[in-house]
Amino acid sequence: MQVIRSIQDMRQLMTDYNDQKKQIGFVPTMGFLHEGHLNLMREARQEDDIVVASIFINPLQFGPNEDYERYPTDEQTDACLAEEAGVDVLFIPTAAEMYPKPTLIQLGIHERTDVLCGRSRPGHFEGVLTVLTKLFHIIHPHKVYFGLKDAQQLAVVDALINDLNFPIELVGLPTVREADGLAKSSRNVNLTEQERREAPWLYKGLHYGQRLIRGGERDPDQVVRDVTETLQQHLSGTIDYVELLGYPSLQPVSSMHKRIILAAAVYFDKARLIDNILLDEK
Ligand code: PAJ
Repeated sequence: MQVIRSIQDMRQLMTDYNDQKKQIGFVPTMGFLHEGHLNLMREARQEDDIVVASIFINPLQFGPNEDYERYPTDEQTDACLAEEAGVDVLFIPTAAEMYPKPTLIQLGIHERTDVLCGRSRPGHFEGVLTVLTKLFHIIHPHKVYFGLKDAQQLAVVDALINDLNFPIELVGLPTVREADGLAKSSRNVNLTEQERREAPWLYKGLHYGQRLIRGGERDPDQVVRDVTETLQQHLSGTIDYVELLGYPSLQPVSSMHKRIILAAAVYFDKARLIDNILLDEK
């Protein structure tokens, strides 16, 4: 596996692979890799000639009071894990390499971000769109791999690729979980012992909502109220949101008749956790 830190070297290598007509799969990450990330890399290994992964903690997508400064890192372990998962090229640029001066251009998006995480993290998805556009231009992947754990991000990247005509196929893969149901996240290490014990309730609460819907509940507001109550009972953190929306439009739904997402976010002391369930209702 090659580790590359400069944009220029990365461009050169990718141009060579493109000249050789290699199919390039790309997995963008912020590092501190876990099974959720590795699953994306293994899938790319199965589907593509060349697997590229990036590790870059993108300052643009963090708000002023968010966890940019304490986002966990472990570059050596990440490099071993990525190599084991079949990555050929690991791109690890510094912030100075990616943003040598403040960017004059930032991408924006009108829909899909006024709900869920977009509402509580203003500027977050604009930062994600901007860094991904830069990475797509540097790497020129044929396929990109994202996790459904961040379902809103997937919906936003889907719009980016379609609206700006990137010749890229978007692959979304299911959320990878701990044995107790907690979605794997680099941020889980920032939970206290007590918070970690209760954190699986985020998923259990969403599951409860799913059962209500499957059991015939047709009022989205009622589902949201019941799930919120369950989460409040079992979690010491502050609930940021519980929402039920159409997917991937992320528009409100009046009844349960199509693809919907039930999603929640909770602030713990030093970590904000998110999770969701996608439901295909007839
Ligand atoms: P990061 O949080 O490191 O996640 C990188 C990719 O791994 C994303 O596609 C995310 O959805 C996926 N992922 C994380 N946890 C997962 C889990 N438990 N199961 C399945 N997939 C999971 O998302 C980002 O980084 C950044 O916003 C990025 C896209 C790299 C742009 O900076």
